[in-house]
Amino acid sequence: MKVYDNVLETIGHTPLIRLHRVTRDVKADVLAKVETFNPGHSIKDRMAVQMINDAEAKGLLKPGGTIIECTSGNTGMGIALVAAVRGYKCIFTTSDKQSKEKLDMLKALGAEVIVCPTNVEPKDPRSYYSVAERLQKQIPNSYWCNQYDNLSNAYAHYTSTGPEIWDQTDGRITHLIVGVGTGGTISGTAKYLKEQNPNIKVWGIDTYGSVFKKYHETGEFDESEIYPYITEGIGEDILPANVDFSLIDHFEKVTDADGALAARRLAREEGLLLGYSAGSALAGLLQLADQLTENDVVVIIFHDHGSRYVGKIYNDDWMRERGFLNKELAVHDLLRAQKGRSVITVGPNDPVRLALQLMKEYDISQLPVIDDNEFIGAVLESTVLNFMLDNPTEHANKSVSDMMDPPFPMVEEDLPVSALNSYFLDKKPAVMAKDRAGNFHILTKYDILQML
Ligand SMILES: Cc1ncc(COP(=O)(O)O)c(C=O)c1O
Repeated sequence: MKVYDNVLETIGHTPLIRLHRVTRDVKADVLAKVETFNPGHSIKDRMAVQMINDAEAKGLLKPGGTIIECTSGNTGMGIALVAAVRGYKCIFTTSDKQSKEKLDMLKALGAEVIVCPTNVEPKDPRSYYSVAERLQKQIPNSYWCNQYDNLSNAYAHYTSTGPEIWDQTDGRITHLIVGVGTGGTISGTAKYLKEQNPNIKVWGIDTYGSVFKKYHETGEFDESEIYPYITEGIGEDILPANVDFSLIDHFEKVTDADGALAARRLAREEGLLLGYSAGSALAGLLQLADQLTENDVVVIIFHDHGSRYVGKIYNDDWMRERGFLNKELAVHDLLRAQKGRSVITVGPNDPVRLALQLMKEYDISQLPVIDDNEFIGAVLESTVLNFMLDNPTEHANKSVSDMMDPPFPMVEEDLPVSALNSYFLDKKPAVMAKDRAGNFHILTKYDILQML
């Protein structure tokens, strides 16, 4: 039988997949090492097993013990898999900028997760490094992996990721592109590959708000480089022992917006639903494309899966709130924001009294008039008021058709919101739109203001 003894045996041996559309302007052959194929859906499964194996071998972790780690989620996922298979407890400290999906997944695997503030110094007692360090001292038979300085991290990539890439490219790789966080992936993989061929160029992808690039280029740890950023998984405000700067030929910084937009392109143009740092890696490659020729074979490492980011970079509202989407708002965005609110209507033969009742009940100032599935008029608050003031008792029983205004204009779903301007300048209090499911919606000036 061809059977794996447990899930940990399925880690590694991930595929190398050629990129086409997103790299159409790049002369080189670009191959993606897609690490989402690991059982924890990220590359960090590799180093999680290595750190635990090494701790067990050194007697630092004994049966029934507790594993502690500061993790943005992916290392935690890998450790949680090992803990589940080998019977350890886990406690993870993480920062409050990590996606909820990541944290929920760790909890699903039985881990305890402690969320710490992002915007504090690493030495601050509230930081996720300090909390992990403190827990290790307090909990008996516990082991703090410390992925930043634990060299088992880089070693995992020296013994697995590096050799896999060398074999999969038949030794033809010329460039390696990797997002850098703890530095384990880039340092371990680069060490193996440069031992095979010292001419291979290694480019690290960094973020704005991180210290790596400046430190690499000047040797100065510049605290003024540090500020909060949104990209997850890469960039640091410390120098982890796992980053071997001597193996990295160049650091390229990528903005939060460019990383997010590139990740969305990978999903839509390559069918690869990947994490934020994958987008940053691709954006970095595109920034450096003019240094590549048709003879180059580039391997770009994609660390994790996009499912962890569906509420973030794959969510248009999240992107727009951060100014990452330049795409203009359209009527369908407004309809989505109404979350399926249905239109309240009256018929032309209904009494004006009913229209008033509905306006009061639903707290609305206008009602479309519908007859035989067609919008033939509109009841407006101002018109109905004048009509009623004329003769309250008699006019309440008159038909809506006796006082209705012309129907609201019908607009297309794809109409840019800015084009609504002309309707409102024309003193129309509302427009109507039909969504793709065939439902009608009313968009009043007030609704639009609220949604904008
Ligand atoms: C999504 C993601 N991308 C990139 C990285 C960086 O990898 P490394 O820590 O090996 O430098 C990490 C590490 O946590 C990550 O989770």
